Amino acid sequence: MSHQFHQISAPCLITRRSLLRATALGSTAAFAAVMLPSFGSRAQSAGNHINPLAIPPQNEGRSDNGTMVFDLELQRGTSTFFDQIKTPTLGINGSFLGPTLRMRAGNKVRLNVKNSIGGTSTLHWHGMHLPAKMDGGPHQTIDHGTTWSPEFGVKQKAATVWYHSHQLHGTASQVWQGLAGMIIIDDEESDTLHLPRDDGVDDVPIVLQDRRFSLDGRMDYEASRHDTMLGMIGNISMTNGTVAPYFEAKSRLIRLRILNGSNASIYNLGFNDDRSFLQVASDGGFLEAPFKTNHLVLAPGERAEIVVDAGGGNNFMLSSRASSPGMGMMRGGRGMMGGMMGGGSPAFDFLEIRPAQTLNESAEVPSKLADIDWIQPQTAAKTRQFVMNMTMGPMMMMGFGNSHTINDKAMKMSRVDEVVKLGDTEIWEIGNNSPLPHPFHIHNVQFQILNRNGHAPHAGERGRKDTVLVNPGEIVRIIAKFEDYADSDKPFMYHCHILEHEDAGMMGQFTVV
Ligand code: C2O
Ligand code: CU
Ligand code: CU
Repeated sequence: MSHQFHQISAPCLITRRSLLRATALGSTAAFAAVMLPSFGSRAQSAGNHINPLAIPPQNEGRSDNGTMVFDLELQRGTSTFFDQIKTPTLGINGSFLGPTLRMRAGNKVRLNVKNSIGGTSTLHWHGMHLPAKMDGGPHQTIDHGTTWSPEFGVKQKAATVWYHSHQLHGTASQVWQGLAGMIIIDDEESDTLHLPRDDGVDDVPIVLQDRRFSLDGRMDYEASRHDTMLGMIGNISMTNGTVAPYFEAKSRLIRLRILNGSNASIYNLGFNDDRSFLQVASDGGFLEAPFKTNHLVLAPGERAEIVVDAGGGNNFMLSSRASSPGMGMMRGGRGMMGGMMGGGSPAFDFLEIRPAQTLNESAEVPSKLADIDWIQPQTAAKTRQFVMNMTMGPMMMMGFGNSHTINDKAMKMSRVDEVVKLGDTEIWEIGNNSPLPHPFHIHNVQFQILNRNGHAPHAGERGRKDTVLVNPGEIVRIIAKFEDYADSDKPFMYHCHILEHEDAGMMGQFTVV
């Protein structure tokens, strides 16, 4: 692969001047200076994307007696996001982010995770169905200088999932600095479906993030109390760790495996020329049929695979519209508190796609993708309720009490909140009693969304999910089957995937027994 992932050295042409412009004015003004051109009127910004998109190296593992072994090292390094500026970062087998791990359903895998960052960390396999002690959550800490080697069978459908640090109270900072990467799971279905699958050519991993840089090019994690409350939102967007990237499309149809890898930004994605695209997969794999749309809301932790037609001759930009934090994005409403508190995500230009003069022809996307075993609500043995809440009064601002809770409790390592019976199907009703949207994530299972406030989810959410955005005042009902792995000792997590909220306590634990 000719792409350089970890040292985007040579012509990294975002200049020091543009960084200065972005940072000197402080957060809000900086968005205007660098990120602006509003959605829909961005023709002039297309020329600013001057760095070739980095494609993370793929790691398929090595076979050891039939087990696929992945050797990973959490390490410190420096990355060149801006011309001639070295930014201290964390990465996996490199200086920022990590390789794309390629796994096959039915295989047994072992991941040797060596920690060399000089402090404690963990590595969690987000979206994977596995035993709790292999999950890499806050209970599976890896001390500096040691190696943790979880082993499990890949028992799920083809999907784009991911891995990231899950250090108790330290997830936000470690992911911000770079401890995250993608996992692609293949199976017979994905082998035979006529979808683009040439990695880095017409099948491209897309890790979307935003970061806040200081004048000297550092992106240290310094969250104010305000950031803890709203989530840490940056002023510079990056795709696969590349700032202002472009991608040259050689084929007509391009499949993007998109991960919202940000700490706290809800991206409202679309192309600047409003072209439509097909969503083919959600968090846990293929939808039943492609869903044609022109915008895609992805909250932190969520993934979607889309196929876009690069034809038409013009360059076009994958962008995110600005949002205010209290905005009910699915409903198009606007929370009053959100508006009053300010913040929210600015508009971001993520990736310019430049179609080649002549594009290789691609097979049409099949109209039928996969079968989904719909879980019937009548089969549920139990319904549980979860309410996410935030305390934002003066007591919280002074640091008293639990600011971020689920069912009025802040995360406690020694307390198991819920006990689920192995083999049971359950309905979880997830409510949001706060003025901000929260993406709720459940470890170990791929669930299905039954409804939002009684209304069926839209087609892009009708599939396997592990993370779901819950808007203020909304109740999202999901259904899941808890199969295969019982352990009365080691819990799985459920939590808000805004990492600042998770770190502040909006997380709970369940065991499967
Ligand atoms: Cu993406 Cu509990 O994690
Ligand atoms: Cu997870
Ligand atoms: Cu939250």
